Amino acid sequence: MKVLVTGGSGFIGSHVVDKLIDKGIAVRIYDTIIPTHRKDVEFYQGSILDMQSLGFAMDGIDAIFHLAAIADVKDVYNEPHYSESINVRGTINVLESARKASIKRIVYGSTTWVYSESIQNNVDETSPLLAPSHFYTATKLAGEYYCQSYNKLYGMEITILRYGIPYGPRARDGAVLPIFARKALNGEPLTIAGDGLQFRKFVYVEDLAEGNALALKKCAIDKIYNLDGKEKVTIKQMAETIKKIVGNVKIEYTPTRPGDFVGKEVSSERAKEELGWEANTSFEEGVRRYIKWYKEREEKRRSGWEDVDKVLKK
Ligand SMILES: NC(=O)c1ccc[n+]([C@@H]2O[C@H](COP(=O)([O-])OP(=O)(O)OC[C@H]3O[C@@H](n4cnc5c(N)ncnc54)[C@H](O)[C@@H]3O)[C@@H](O)[C@H]2O)c1
Repeated sequence: MKVLVTGGSGFIGSHVVDKLIDKGIAVRIYDTIIPTHRKDVEFYQGSILDMQSLGFAMDGIDAIFHLAAIADVKDVYNEPHYSESINVRGTINVLESARKASIKRIVYGSTTWVYSESIQNNVDETSPLLAPSHFYTATKLAGEYYCQSYNKLYGMEITILRYGIPYGPRARDGAVLPIFARKALNGEPLTIAGDGLQFRKFVYVEDLAEGNALALKKCAIDKIYNLDGKEKVTIKQMAETIKKIVGNVKIEYTPTRPGDFVGKEVSSERAKEELGWEANTSFEEGVRRYIKWYKEREEKRRSGWEDVDKVLKK
């Protein structure tokens, strides 16, 4: 079996690629950006806006993981029109190219943010969805609906995965945990708005990747699964975990900002029962692995600049 991973050079996609390869599945990445996390993977460079290029990339492919997107909500806020083209038009381009290439199996990376407007606090895949306020979520939901239409109209075998908030090695620097970790390692204080008791559930990215690989199971066809973390982590606990790992970190509290997100309880029971998936990495272990990776990356960057200095001094 050979799978195409769109967005396979990105944060989650790169871990999905690793997990699939670990399981002996042949992988081809389709992305605008060259993958830097490993060299032993086939790579087609192109945009999901380019149907001809997508068609070439789908040659010899049995299943597709579609993760390419504008995934940072701030980018979507700043560039809604462009983001819509990638997240919505890009998704139908992938679906339509797959249909033309007679590829039936597609796994679509969505988000638990689809529950953000839900009236209930405890939600699962059967919970009714209300119109989202964030445009990012609107684009991701449009993608879900397109997948479902392709299933009903053309018999495309779809699995929709709604990811919780991922963290771990290769996370983008602007997310809350990377910001805290960077500050802690630079000796700056960690600032918490309010009492820090507002919680999030985070899902460790390698656990998430495992859930993606399991979604290739036959029983996952035409299903939606939430893949969220198990532990509730308050911002205060996050800061304290980082302090425990890094040591000698000051934690400061400031007044609450209006509109701070109140987390929903997203159930991942269906993924546990049907796919045998659970987010097994503890938050502390995940943060440890992230900090280890971060330090190694910074070290590589530093030594890279030292090499440049040496060359320029010659
Ligand atoms: N990171 C999160 O918090 C989060 C949470 C839930 C769901 N998701 C979803 O998971 C998926 C992956 O997100 P991520 O965090 O890894 O994001 P990312 O930005 O790290 O990766 C996205 C990848 O898509 C690629 N891409 C962007 N435009 C493209 C185009 N036109 N053609 C081909 N490739 C293109 C990028 O180069 C990048 O490698 C996205 O669909 C996102 O919506 C992310």
